[in-house]
Amino acid sequence: MTRTPEKASPGNDLLLNLLRQHQGEWISGQFLAGSLAVTRAAVWKRIALLKEEGYGIEAVPRRGYRLFDIPDRMLIPEIRSGLNTSVFGQRDIRRYEKTDSTNRRAKELAEDGAAEGVLVIAEEQAQGRGRLDRTWFSPAGENIFISLIIRPHLPPGTASRLVILAAVAAAEALIETTGLKAAVKWPNDILIGEKKIGGILLEMSMEPDTVNYLIIGLGINVNTPAERFPEKLRGRATSVLAETGKTFPRVSLLRRFLELLEQKYFQSRKAGFDTVINRWKSLTDMPGRRVCVKTINESYEGVVVDLDCDGFLILRNNSGEEIRLFSGDITIM
Ligand code: BTN
Repeated sequence: MTRTPEKASPGNDLLLNLLRQHQGEWISGQFLAGSLAVTRAAVWKRIALLKEEGYGIEAVPRRGYRLFDIPDRMLIPEIRSGLNTSVFGQRDIRRYEKTDSTNRRAKELAEDGAAEGVLVIAEEQAQGRGRLDRTWFSPAGENIFISLIIRPHLPPGTASRLVILAAVAAAEALIETTGLKAAVKWPNDILIGEKKIGGILLEMSMEPDTVNYLIIGLGINVNTPAERFPEKLRGRATSVLAETGKTFPRVSLLRRFLELLEQKYFQSRKAGFDTVINRWKSLTDMPGRRVCVKTINESYEGVVVDLDCDGFLILRNNSGEEIRLFSGDITIM
């Protein structure tokens, strides 16, 4: 398992940007060397590194270099290219080819003082985790597995707002980039129809009266074919590929998620959380449905009434009492 993360090299980013600007065209080694103020041999070495990462680059004497293919890998320069955020994904990004869990890596970084906006990504997770200690199916090179560190100055009781915010951003990113009719299910699911396409795992460290940091872990099934889901998930899980019949560039979905998450995060810090709650309600059909919610200690049956201003579910039980639930495992009956 790779424990050492990869980091972006600024030289490679500049070279890649030049190649990208002229994608499909020939650019001479002399031009690249002049633009980067390095020797032609240094350009050649950097090109070799990019090819190792999977970029399709042709090199022909006297013509130069031509970028003809960008790999579908969650590479740092690809994520940053055209990412319209000011903090999320603009600070340190740690990328793992394989790690146990991006949430675990992000937690270690946050404990060491990593700033808000630091992002951990992996192509594959050996112990991807879901809520309630479930495993999260995390095969190599197909899906999105990321964890973002945020440091929101919130009282601990309101931290669950961030799950709602992340779920809305993920559903909107799916709708905008893939055209799929994504919906949300309390507390942390992203659905297509009745099937789960993504989920959020929020983990936090808190003091008695404030949150130190939060880790927003997001998993989205993008390019897993329907038949490759493990037996127990079949019929309950889906992916963009399974829904549309086409593979989808993961990086563009991730970029849009980060942009929407950041917009909503800063906006709700200034103007309050109501807009996010209302948007969440417009992305779900849960109100009015009869459900069973299992929490760690109890099980509640009733009808969903609403979502309150902190992201708690309000349920009317069989005796007509309204119960406010912070988290739980929900089954629609
Ligand atoms: C759930 O629906 O139960 C939450 C799933 C969260 C999965 C993501 S994948 C990236 C991050 N790392 C993990 O180990 N889990 C989250």
